[in-house]
Amino acid sequence: MRLKDKVALITGGARGIGLGFAEAFVAEGARVVIADINLERATAAASSIGPAVTAVKLDVTRAPDIEAVVKKIDEEMGGIDILVNNAAIFDMAPIQAITEDSYQRVLDVNLKGPLFTMKAVANVMIARGRGGKIINMASQAGRRGEALVTLYCASKAAIISATQSAALALVKYGINVNAIAPGVVDGEHWDVVDAKFAEWEGLKPGEKKAAVAREVPIGRFATPDDIKGLAVFLASRDSDYILAQTYNVDGGNWMS
Ligand SMILES: NC(=O)c1ccc[n+]([C@@H]2O[C@H](COP(=O)([O-])OP(=O)(O)OC[C@H]3O[C@@H](n4cnc5c(N)ncnc54)[C@H](O)[C@@H]3O)[C@@H](O)[C@H]2O)c1
Repeated sequence: MRLKDKVALITGGARGIGLGFAEAFVAEGARVVIADINLERATAAASSIGPAVTAVKLDVTRAPDIEAVVKKIDEEMGGIDILVNNAAIFDMAPIQAITEDSYQRVLDVNLKGPLFTMKAVANVMIARGRGGKIINMASQAGRRGEALVTLYCASKAAIISATQSAALALVKYGINVNAIAPGVVDGEHWDVVDAKFAEWEGLKPGEKKAAVAREVPIGRFATPDDIKGLAVFLASRDSDYILAQTYNVDGGNWMS
């Protein structure tokens, strides 16, 4: 068991990739807290895995709430060893049509959330003095802009940069910060993406998804199962000499 007795906080873990990580971390011996804006889904997710998982309501756009949740976990569970900044939302528009409202929502959840969660968790990790692992969820969307996806792409590019800065600041405390850049992963997130592309490009539901799947070199969408192995590796001692990196798990879509 590579994560035996570790305490992991996963934001946005009520479904999709974060839920897959929660299952994988528990299988490796960790106790997991799923912090999600949707408490009902988070509670159902936790009980579907078992007693090693608890759910807490958290809107990652609210820095004081992040501080309170992190403090409570630190006190009640004896520290936090692993953080996965996974919560994010998707929206799309070309530059000539972006709105302030979309900017605020996307950047608040996808950038402000991870930044202030890293801050809160890093401080309790430093206080405990036993190091830790921080994993930020980037995306292939952060590697290259897309004409119709201005704000989401920008938020994910910013996460790649924030991962580097945080990693350099925290390495002296034994905290490794890295990121994962998935390609296209099947689930409710992509249902939203497909529906929005259908609106913008005049496509039928499912058409964008099918076209995108054909272009992945490996020939299919990922599932959360395809991503979890890297998360376990980055959360474990096997990654002790690795920091500031963003790893692609995308079936060959992006080569770097
Ligand atoms: N699915 C993909 O194709 C894909 C590709 C690349 C990167 N990613 C990234 O991987 C991560 C997980 O993706 P997913 O497909 O599982 O997403 P998802 O949309 O299925 O799940 C996101 C979760 O975040 C929660 N959430 C949303 N706003 C929140 C907030 N303000 N505070 C707390 N929780 C909030 C939601 O309730 C949900 O449970 C995201 O960072 C996403 O950007 C996904």
